[in-house]
This record gives sequence, structure tokens and C-alpha cells, in this order.
Amino acid sequence: MQQLDTAKDLRAWRGEAGGSVGLVPTMGNLHAGHLALVAAARASCDRVVVSIFVNPLQFGPNEDLDSYPRTLDADMRALEQAGADAVFAPDVAQIYPHGGTTVTTVRVEGITDMLCGSRRPGHFEGVATVVTKLLNLVGPDRAFFGEKDFQQLAVIRRLVDDLCMRVDIVGVPTVREADGLALSSRNQYLQAEERKRAPALAAALEDCKARLAEGERDFAALEARGRAAIDAAGLETDYFEIRSPELFAPRADMNAFRVLAAAFLGRARLIDNVAVEAAPGQ
Ligand code: PAF
Repeated sequence: MQQLDTAKDLRAWRGEAGGSVGLVPTMGNLHAGHLALVAAARASCDRVVVSIFVNPLQFGPNEDLDSYPRTLDADMRALEQAGADAVFAPDVAQIYPHGGTTVTTVRVEGITDMLCGSRRPGHFEGVATVVTKLLNLVGPDRAFFGEKDFQQLAVIRRLVDDLCMRVDIVGVPTVREADGLALSSRNQYLQAEERKRAPALAAALEDCKARLAEGERDFAALEARGRAAIDAAGLETDYFEIRSPELFAPRADMNAFRVLAAAFLGRARLIDNVAVEAAPGQ
């Protein structure tokens, strides 16, 4: 496995890589959820490159950029085992060579005005900008993203479509702990007692999913029920929303939905979502 630190090294690797190339963009501190992305890339691409870059542009001024866990040595060992061919681990100057003044950014309108986008101003612009840079640097055939960050996945699909980029965006299902908690690097911010309460987020989503699948369509009541269950478990709901699979407003005659939620717990802000496919006619 090759470690590539500069854009020049990455381009040279790409030039020599034969066959199809899969890119797995990450911010490091890898867990089984990231390794599922690598496995998906490994299964469908001849060469797999993983990027590790904690992107300052997607963190708000009061967010955890400085404390975000950076564990490059352990990440390299895990990626070697997972069969990655190369790791691109640039410093900030490689990605933002003009320093703190980023003149060109990528802003995806509409779907970024809701859910996490409305709570974290500038976040998705930072994500869209760095993902565009990574896709341009690597030129992969496919790029792999977790469904846990479902709005992020929707933003990336949209930018690739709108900017006519030749890459397939592949969504990979969320990996969960045995008690349902979605894996996230930020779970390690939880104290032991908070960790016990954290699965309430996934449980509330599952409850809503079951009710939608049974035909309930009072969205406001279902959302209120979800928020109440999360708050009752000692988390603080940020949002709990039922949407169409494309993140539009839901309609009572739909049979497929996405339910998305975010909640604060101690130092962590947890997000999660589930897909709902109800049998037609229910
Ligand atoms: O999901 C993440 O880890 C990041 O948002 C991403 C896609 C690597 C962009 O920095």
C-alpha cells in the first residue's frame, strides 16, 4: 500500500493505476463503517485509493475541528489489512494551496437548506468543495460514501450530476453496533453513561419506520412522537423529520420515505436515518 502525501504523488499514482479506480473519501479515525466502504470499493474496482483529510472548510467556528480524532498510524494499518492500494493523506496546504482565502467553492442549493444544512451553516459547502477537489484530483470511476450521512450523499449525487462529472457515486448501508447505534467517529465523545442512552436515536427511527410501514401517515404526529422518545431518553433532539427518499416533503400517497434525525448527547451531536419501503396500498 502506498502513502501519497501530495497532489503530485496522487496524480502520478493515478496515471499508473490500470483498470477501474475507486475512491473512498474519509476524515480518518477509521471504524468498521469506513472499512465497509473500502470493502465495497474493493469488490467493484481494480484499484482502491482512500483519502484521509480533516477538511477545515466543513467545520463551523464552534465545532470540533481541533479536537477531531486524528489517528493516521492506526488508520494506515487498518487500510493495509482492508486491501487498499493507496492512501492519500495530504496536509491542508495541498488541498487549499491559496491559504485561508478560498475563492472558488461549490454550493448545492435547495437540499442544503434543511436538516443538517440549516443547523450547520456552510457545512455542506465545505463538503461539496472538498469532494469536488478530491474527485478532480483522483478522477475515479466510482466514489463510495456512507448512507449514515444521507443528506451528504444526496448533496454529492446532485453536485456530480449538476457539474457533469464522470463518476458513479455509490451509497453504502450504515454499519451499526449490536444495540443499533450507528458507527461514527464522534461516538467516542460519549461518556459511558451517555453511550447507554445513545441507541434511543436509532430506536426512535425504527419505531417511526414500523408505523409508516403499517400505513400511518400523520407525519406531524409521527415526528412529534420521535422527538418525544429521543428527549425522554435524555438526548436533546435537533431534528426528527420524515422526507421522501430524495429529501422532498413527504406525501400521504407515497410508499417510500427516509426518516432522518439528529440529537445532542454530551459533547456529541449524533445523526442517523432509516429507509422505509411500505407495501403499496397500505
Ligand atoms: O463523510 C466524511 O467523512 C466527510 O464529510 C468527507 C465526505 C470525507 C468530506 O470531507
